[in-house]
Amino acid sequence: NNKPKNIVVIFGATGDLAKRKLYPSIYNLFKKNKIGEEFAVVGVARSELTNEAFRENVISSVTKNVALEDRKNVEKFSEHFFYLPFDVTKPTSYEQLNHLLTDLEGRFEIPGNRLFYLAMAPEFFGTIAQNLKAEGVTNTDGWTRLVIEKPFGHDLPSAQKLNDEIREAFAEEDIYRIDHYLGKSMVQNIEVIRFANAIFEPLWNSRYISNIQVTSSETLGVEDRGKYYEKSGALRDMVQNHMLQMVALLAMEPPISLTDEEIRSEKIKVLRAMRPLTEEDVNNTFVRGQYGPGVVKESEVKGYREENNVDENSNTETFVSGKIFIDNFRWAGVPFFIRTGKRMALKSTKIVVQFKDLPMNLYAKKGQKNYPNLLVINIQPDEGITLIMNGKKIGPTSETTRVSLDYSNDHVNDVNTPEAYERLVFDCMLGDATNFTHWDEVSLSWSYVDAISKVWESNKEKNFPNYEAGSMGPKDSDRILDEEGFHWWPIV
Ligand code: BG6
Repeated sequence: NNKPKNIVVIFGATGDLAKRKLYPSIYNLFKKNKIGEEFAVVGVARSELTNEAFRENVISSVTKNVALEDRKNVEKFSEHFFYLPFDVTKPTSYEQLNHLLTDLEGRFEIPGNRLFYLAMAPEFFGTIAQNLKAEGVTNTDGWTRLVIEKPFGHDLPSAQKLNDEIREAFAEEDIYRIDHYLGKSMVQNIEVIRFANAIFEPLWNSRYISNIQVTSSETLGVEDRGKYYEKSGALRDMVQNHMLQMVALLAMEPPISLTDEEIRSEKIKVLRAMRPLTEEDVNNTFVRGQYGPGVVKESEVKGYREENNVDENSNTETFVSGKIFIDNFRWAGVPFFIRTGKRMALKSTKIVVQFKDLPMNLYAKKGQKNYPNLLVINIQPDEGITLIMNGKKIGPTSETTRVSLDYSNDHVNDVNTPEAYERLVFDCMLGDATNFTHWDEVSLSWSYVDAISKVWESNKEKNFPNYEAGSMGPKDSDRILDEEGFHWWPIV
């Protein structure tokens, strides 16, 4: 059989990510028979825990979604799980790990394939990678891969340093940097929509597209992540990774084939073509926001500055919008507007591609505007595509009306579901790096957003908080579109 056969070592096995995303994802792979019996998971973390206690944790993290009759299957699944108390700075921990792995590889007939998944505090990423190599844990007959969660640094220099450290132990092609947006099915669909449809690709350029709008709004606030978020803000948390990745997929040239190398190299070219920002550009074309108190989904919520572990005078942005230009042949002059924030009116990730107006509109009444065609890609929570066109109103009239062609995926209506992780974890096992970020993508995105944070950090925003929780962000966010003669399309 050609199912992947490997051990997954999870660093941070008692953490939130492991419980919420990784165990359920691996369970789904097991249930769907995508992985067979030749697999094992070794959880490592600081606390002392027996295998039995660890397995109980795993079971409880996957059974929330599982019907009672699956209990047997879950138990069978949990027998592949092993726990090792671990100190990431101690060589003996790595020796013990190596022994355990060798032992399990014999027991489960696994040919030395080891996936190291770092689901823990980023300050140890470099240490772990280097120790894995130094203590011989990466020295096997099979493959070894490193999966690394965000944040990958907090600016270009720190990302570069981290990268240098992990590259001492792993080759670029064996490093899988997670951007969970790339695991979302509609994000993966962007390429298919573009490159498998004769009706879009010929129009997909500055001659026919007037602007593209990418919105990812959340209703949640900062929750219990104040400590991390204070240093990050929406720019580092969402723009550097998820937003720019969506822009790259929308703007890239058709790859010559669907290999990870070809696709990533086209995305890298887009990121290289993004127009660098001067201080003036940042001030004029990027807007930061911070939520104040308000009402979200009919409940009153507090402002960002009142949240736990947040400074009462915090200068951290919880909202960003901005205008990006991609200075290449295809996109010259076409603005890509991005917008993301917490505590906004609704949870939604959507892309709106606005086509240019016809040279004249025979149907427009005096003073009436043209109504452009829109292609809306609904990423979440709805998954699908809507094409907005003009049609004739039924009846004895020459008036036109907006019509929409809708295609909607059947979906699990759950945000940030294990589904994305399930795909990504499986891709790592298969060795397909397409939906992971290459170092060149990471470094180019950091250098782009570093230009923004440099300006924002050097001058405090005096008007924070500047949007009410439950709204669509600060007023100023409309200005950057107004200036180009556009407006944000409603994303309901
Ligand atoms: C994460 C951010 O990367 O993405 C979070 O750190 C954010 O702050 C999350 O809430 C949004 O993901 P999704 O899948 O819910 O849109």
